[in-house]
Amino acid sequence: MGTNKHALPAKARLFEVGPRDGLQNERVHLNVQQKVELILGLIDAGMRDIEVGSFVHPKWIPQMADTDAVLRALPKRDDVRYWVLVPNLRGLEGAIEAGAENIAVFLSSSESHNKKNINRSIDESLESLREVTAVARGEAMTIRGYVSTVFGCPYEGDVDFTRVLEITGALIEMGASQVSLGDTTGMGSPYQVRDRLERALDVFPTEQLALHLHDTRGLGLANALVGLEVGMTTFDTSVGGMGGCPYAPGASGNLGSEDLVHMLQTAGVETGVDLARLLDVSHLLENDFGTTLNSRFYRYAQAGARPASRATS
Ligand code: HMG
Ligand code: MG
Repeated sequence: MGTNKHALPAKARLFEVGPRDGLQNERVHLNVQQKVELILGLIDAGMRDIEVGSFVHPKWIPQMADTDAVLRALPKRDDVRYWVLVPNLRGLEGAIEAGAENIAVFLSSSESHNKKNINRSIDESLESLREVTAVARGEAMTIRGYVSTVFGCPYEGDVDFTRVLEITGALIEMGASQVSLGDTTGMGSPYQVRDRLERALDVFPTEQLALHLHDTRGLGLANALVGLEVGMTTFDTSVGGMGGCPYAPGASGNLGSEDLVHMLQTAGVETGVDLARLLDVSHLLENDFGTTLNSRFYRYAQAGARPASRATS
C-alpha cells in the first residue's frame, strides 16, 4: 500500500459499525426504513464495509431485532459489503435466512466481560464459534472476528495480551479474514496501544487486523494515530460517534467516523470517504431520527453552521 510523506500508510480503510455498534446502545430505536436510509447515506459517503445489524437475542438488544428486514431491504451492490454480527448457531441461521454474505463473530479476552456479554466462558465461546464458522465457511460466507477488551476490561482491569493474540490466532484458524481488536470501553492509552499493536503486527499481517476504538475517555484519535504509525490500515468507526456495548459499563460511543476521516485527511491518508456527505448522515441521525452523537468534528461543524450572533454568545 506504501507510505505517505509522514511515513503513515498512504491509504486506510474505514469499517463503519454505526448501524450495529452505534444503534445497539441508542435510546432511540430506529425503524427499518430509517436504518436503510442511514446505510444508503453511508454508502453515498463512500463507506464500503458496513455492519448493518446483529442476530442476537432481542430481549438483550431490542434495537437489533429487525436486522433480517434491514438486510432484505438493502440493494445488492458488488462494491459494498454488508456485515452482520452473530453470537452463535441460532444467530447464524437467522443471518443465512436473511441472505447475509458477511458475518462477524465475537468474544472477549476477559472472562467476566465475555460472561456478561454472551453468557459463556471464553473456552465455551471458542468451541461454539468453531461450529458457527464451519457452517459459515460451508455457505461461502466471509468471516470477521472481534476480540473485545484487548486494552483493558471494565470488570478485571488489565488483560493478558498473550491471550488476546492466542484468541486472534484461533479466529484466523477458523477462517476469519480479519480480526478486529476491540477497545470496548476505551481503556486504551496511546503508548500501551502502540506496544500491543506492534506485538500483534509481529504475528499477523496488517490486512488480518483492524482496530476497533471507543472514544470513552477522549483517546480514540490518539490511539488511532499510534495505530497508523505502526502500520494499522483498517479502523472501525461509527458515524457521529454513536455507540457502546450495553454490557460494559461506561462504554460510550465508538470513535466517530467524521473525527477519523478528518484526521486522516489532514495527515494525507486516503480513505475514499467524503467528509461533507458523512456530516449529512450525522445531521440526518441527530435532527430527523433524534439519536445522540458524540463526534467532536460533527459538533464543531454544527457550531460553525450556527448564526454568528448565537455561536459567539
Ligand atoms: P443465552 O441466554 O445464554 O442463550 O444467550 P441460550 O443458548 O441459553 O438460549 C436461551 C434462549 O435464547 C433460547 O430461547 C434460544 O433460542 C434463544 P428459548 O428456548 O428460551 O425460547 N437464543 C436466541 N434468540 C435470538 N437470537 C440468538 C439466540 N441465541 C439463543 N442469536 C446470547 C446467549 C449470545 C444469545 C445472548 O447472550 C445475547 O444475545 N447477547 C447479546 C450480546 C450482544 O449483542 N452484545 C453487544 C455486541 S458485542 C459488542 O458490542 C462488542 C464489539 O463492538 C467489539 C468491542 O467493542 O469490543 C463487537
Ligand atoms: Mg464495540
